[in-house]
Amino acid sequence: MTTRRTQVAIIGGGPAGLLLGHLLRAEGIDCLIVERQTRAHVEGRIRAGVLETLTTELLERLGIDAGLKAHGMREEGFNLADGEHVIRIDIARLTGKHVVVYGQTELTRDLIAAAPDRQLEIVFEAGEVAIHDPDSDTPSISYTKDGIVHRVDCAIIAGCDGFHGPSRKAIPAGPERVFEREYPFGWLGILADVPPCHPELIYSNSERGFALASMRSPTRSRYYIQVPSSERLGDWPEDRLWDELERRFAPLAERPVTRGPALEMSIAPLRSYVFETMRYGRLFLAGDAAHIVPPTGAKGLNLAASDVAYLSDALIGYFKRGDESGLRDYETRALARIWKAERFSWSLTKLMHRFPEDGAFERRMQQAELDYLAGSPAMQTAIAENYVGLPL
Ligand code: APR
Ligand code: PHB
Repeated sequence: MTTRRTQVAIIGGGPAGLLLGHLLRAEGIDCLIVERQTRAHVEGRIRAGVLETLTTELLERLGIDAGLKAHGMREEGFNLADGEHVIRIDIARLTGKHVVVYGQTELTRDLIAAAPDRQLEIVFEAGEVAIHDPDSDTPSISYTKDGIVHRVDCAIIAGCDGFHGPSRKAIPAGPERVFEREYPFGWLGILADVPPCHPELIYSNSERGFALASMRSPTRSRYYIQVPSSERLGDWPEDRLWDELERRFAPLAERPVTRGPALEMSIAPLRSYVFETMRYGRLFLAGDAAHIVPPTGAKGLNLAASDVAYLSDALIGYFKRGDESGLRDYETRALARIWKAERFSWSLTKLMHRFPEDGAFERRMQQAELDYLAGSPAMQTAIAENYVGLPL
């Protein structure tokens, strides 16, 4: 067994862990990231791709924005549709802000590539990661690598290990602090090297169910459709999905949907989840470890970034000035923003999907809300300001 010491032991090398590591290193704080998967696995995962200003500003502040500047697509509006009519949300005019389309995959690669120069150590393929004594003054983590057990003593443990990681499970919390809503459908996604059918994102509530047209670049498209939870990928040959996308976007998009071989296809379930106990002694949760939003609204990655913005501030205050107030306030500050993003993602999911349990009345409610939205700058502003991201 080996033993070493660091100031912050970060579990998980997804966007939350990587961003936190960089923000701490930028202030000279010692940290170490332990990640269960291989580097290739982490860099290959296809996830969402819409960044709020807050997230792009963090990358700019870190100077890890070359890829973002070169390949990020500035989007000044996006579209909600009722299947036939497009309602454009002019986010630039309504909020003075914009979002940037840049894949989480690319962002993760940039953060990993920038690590060595900034002395941010990432241990990939760390097995059996365990948390010890988080509620004491001498917490530590351990992991195995190449058959050797390593122990890391630290002052703080950051649980950035996603929804299935060990950090949340290390926190004893009553059910009254856990909130969950599962949705009776998932998103079937496809990534392909074909030009997008529309210059801006379109979220559509069509007769055949929800569909989203998104992109990664002028030559790479990302599409999703709503499918019942019982559906399997094997039920969806590529052509069946393209047929479906063609039907749903033909009335809405500037150009016909262009088909091409799938670079990736996957089905993701939709869930809302909040674990309110984000601190237990010296263990702090950030990102998907503490909360999940359905992808409607693209808040998952951005919420991970805002958690980490609060947490890094708190840790910098603690290590640089011995000020514990940021650590004390972390959970309250983070949850205030998390719940608002949960509300937005939930309400957009409800507005834009066909729920199997819904009857004619619920459908009329959706239609009335979309109709109201189409004619109301006030409601468009409310949606736009949530989409670009609420202030910290
Ligand atoms: N030990 C070490 N690492 C672990 C363990 C473990 N036992 N379990 C999970 N991890 C790693 C995962 O392999 C993953 O790389 O923790 C990381 C968590 O990353 P994400 O799941 O991406 O979560 P987060 O960093 O909070 O980012 C949230 O990313 O996953 C999307 O939809 C999500 O957009 C949201 C954002
Ligand atoms: C994506 O491009 O993958 C994407 C965009 C917007 C969303 C979700 C996913 O709301």
